[in-house]
Amino acid sequence: MALEIDLSGRVALVTGGSRGLGRADALTLARAGADVAIADIQLESDSGEQAERYGPLAQAARAQGFVYAEQTADQIRALGRRSLALRCDVTERAEVAETVRRVGEDLGPVGILVNNAATLDHLGQLSDQSPELWERDLRVNLTGAFNCAQAVWPGLVEHGWGRIVNMASVAGTLGGFGQASYSTTKAGVLGLTRTLALEGARNGITVNAIVPGVIGTEAFGFGNPEMNERMIRRTALRRAGDPQEVANAIAFLCSGLASYITGIELNVSGGIELFTF
Ligand SMILES: NC(=O)c1ccc[n+]([C@@H]2O[C@H](COP(=O)([O-])OP(=O)(O)OC[C@H]3O[C@@H](n4cnc5c(N)ncnc54)[C@H](O)[C@@H]3O)[C@@H](O)[C@H]2O)c1
Repeated sequence: MALEIDLSGRVALVTGGSRGLGRADALTLARAGADVAIADIQLESDSGEQAERYGPLAQAARAQGFVYAEQTADQIRALGRRSLALRCDVTERAEVAETVRRVGEDLGPVGILVNNAATLDHLGQLSDQSPELWERDLRVNLTGAFNCAQAVWPGLVEHGWGRIVNMASVAGTLGGFGQASYSTTKAGVLGLTRTLALEGARNGITVNAIVPGVIGTEAFGFGNPEMNERMIRRTALRRAGDPQEVANAIAFLCSGLASYITGIELNVSGGIELFTF
């Protein structure tokens, strides 16, 4: 077998692909040969009314100017692959079902799912954790991943091949100070990963999780500089990761090179979980 990542003939669906890691993942899977659909709560062409519907998170993201879903789909097409940018809220099961149907119709059945969409927009210790944001985070980060996995599952089973990569976080493996809801959802994603790995194995489906540390996405650049500095100081490699370094790991897990790997949590974290002093 050639020692290369070749995803030609595969169709990938990346949720939350309008920016950050999802955008890098979508471009990387396409460079490896896959046709890629990007599903995100927001697209550049959304009308003001549509953006309104998505509440404060999407509006904040739009205000930051970080919405590149359609631009990314164009870049993928320029690589000679097929691509779609679809508006989809992963918490809405009907929208998820319609997205999977639409991808199937336009690009072919989804073989690769990257459950990347998530919310990471507030910090606060337990006494300040808003119950509304707790529920919202569970719905997006955890139930959203479940919804998308369940929607693509029958197609993966039918074809006897599938790859699901779930985005977890070191907040899920180590805990995250001031991140009760976020870290809980990311720990939950690891349980979902192992269980789906067990259930999918008999049908040629592998399911793995990526555990990123601090990655230099747009959001990181505009975050709290002192907090960012502290996180980098406790990272063994003493720098933030590049989105491409996460995307490389995802492409590997989706490729034939990772055919015997399932149910793992792969740290792409620069060693932030190591005892550093
Ligand atoms: N950046 C990091 O340092 C880091 C570290 C650990 C884990 N992660 C994980 O990696 C993934 C990507 O992180 P990022 O930094 O690129 O985040 P980001 O906030 O830049 O991107 C998340 C994307 O998800 C979309 N989204 C939010 N709610 C959605 C919904 N209901 N339906 C569909 N799309 C929705 C957003 O519009 C956005 O495009 C997330 O799962 C995050 O938890 C990131």
